[in-house]
Amino acid sequence: MLTIKSVDSLYVALDFENKRQALDFLESNGLYGIPVKVGMELFYKEGPSVVHELKKRGHSIFLDLKLHDIPQTVRKAMKNLASLDVDVVNVHASGGGEMIAAAREGLEEGSETSSRPVLLAVTQLTSTNQAMLTEELLISHKLEDCVSHLAQLSQENGADGVVCSVKEIKQIKRRCGERFITVTPGIRRIEESHQDQKRVASPFEAGKDGTDAIVVGRSITQSKDPVSTYQQIKEEFKHGKH
Ligand code: C5P
Repeated sequence: MLTIKSVDSLYVALDFENKRQALDFLESNGLYGIPVKVGMELFYKEGPSVVHELKKRGHSIFLDLKLHDIPQTVRKAMKNLASLDVDVVNVHASGGGEMIAAAREGLEEGSETSSRPVLLAVTQLTSTNQAMLTEELLISHKLEDCVSHLAQLSQENGADGVVCSVKEIKQIKRRCGERFITVTPGIRRIEESHQDQKRVASPFEAGKDGTDAIVVGRSITQSKDPVSTYQQIKEEFKHGKH
């Protein structure tokens, strides 16, 4: 039977221009084998080779490409992504139930080993706020209602969890159950600026609210001391979980 890969507790977002910069960052800081998130910027520059290089070095990989297309296209794309042996992938939940189900089918078809990647759905980006939802997307519901509705839709169509902001974890766990995975970006330590993120919280709050994993990018990659920031964030998150 096909099992599911697992989710790590802290992913460092490798939002770098190219593979060289990403690998240099990891190696020069001795961050060997840590779980990483590869996003569009890096993947579209380097393609599957960046995934192979990271796998070779023992990193578990959340490949964050947020697929959103017609179901057939997403199914076939997911089949290809599964064959890269990445650990976590995602789609935009707003692509609809049929598309989410197609993503899951594609992952199963493409998993040659006995385990398939974890499938997450992005509810609303953490850069979205209520004003954008209402004024730009003409969605009149409250942001948190949209998020929990999309979480349930994702679950009903075979997603293992969602990407959501810290503010939404409790509500999603209540609606979809504790075992439905939540992965949370938009993490800032209290003393930091928010940059372009609109719905942020600290690692401690994320842990306390019961999220399964956090994604942290610039706080670590642009830190003067990435290793100690990485460790502090990990500790704070763990502390919140207890
Ligand atoms: O630098 P920062 O910690 O803000 O990076 C957050 C990462 O999480 C980025 O790579 C961004 O693409 C990603 N992300 C997000 N919001 C989502 C899904 C992914 O910020 N809903």
